[in-house]
Amino acid sequence: MHKDIQEILYSEQELRAKAAELGKQLSKDYEGKNPLVVGILKGAIFFITDLVKEMDIDVELDFMDVSSYGNATVSTGEVKIIKDLSTNAEGRDILIVEDIIDSGRTLEYLVNLFKYRKANSVKLVTLLDKPEGRVVDITADYVGFPVPNEFVVGYGIDYAEKYRNLPYIGIVKREVYE
Ligand code: PRP
Ligand code: MN
Ligand code: MG
Repeated sequence: MHKDIQEILYSEQELRAKAAELGKQLSKDYEGKNPLVVGILKGAIFFITDLVKEMDIDVELDFMDVSSYGNATVSTGEVKIIKDLSTNAEGRDILIVEDIIDSGRTLEYLVNLFKYRKANSVKLVTLLDKPEGRVVDITADYVGFPVPNEFVVGYGIDYAEKYRNLPYIGIVKREVYE
């Protein structure tokens, strides 16, 4: 385990198994719909790849880079598009794939954006949900695991751009950011 990690919450095996479970469910729910699966950079990179490999229907993949944290541990509240989709969302069934919902601001912004762009449907898939962090009323349609109100990293999720490459989800020791 990395020296800055206090506790592992979900192992690589558990994360893979959850991605497989959600991928199979999505395959049933989106059969024949050719959904546009939108991964939100950078945090969702590991999850989206594990997820779509488990989907046995036709899908299209695209990515957006939306950032609200910068290098702080608390969301600034301002969502910025760093990179937009290269696909037209109009009329598409959009499946937004996130690593974590905390305040909910990122997803609220994206759901509104896709409605404005006249998507046929917009649903949210998140690996992790931190309900205690919520400041806007957003609920994901598909959730992997709950997490406590701690700073979690790994499997794509960073603290100040660090720890994304850890294969598990863990809690960062307080001394690292205090
Ligand atoms: C993190 C995380 C989610 C979002 C969740 O991304 O990956 O996208 O914040 O927080 P919220 O519910 O409070 O909006 P971040 O903006 O740090 O960018 P990153 O994925 O590139 O790390
Ligand atoms: Mn993110
Ligand atoms: Mg981040």
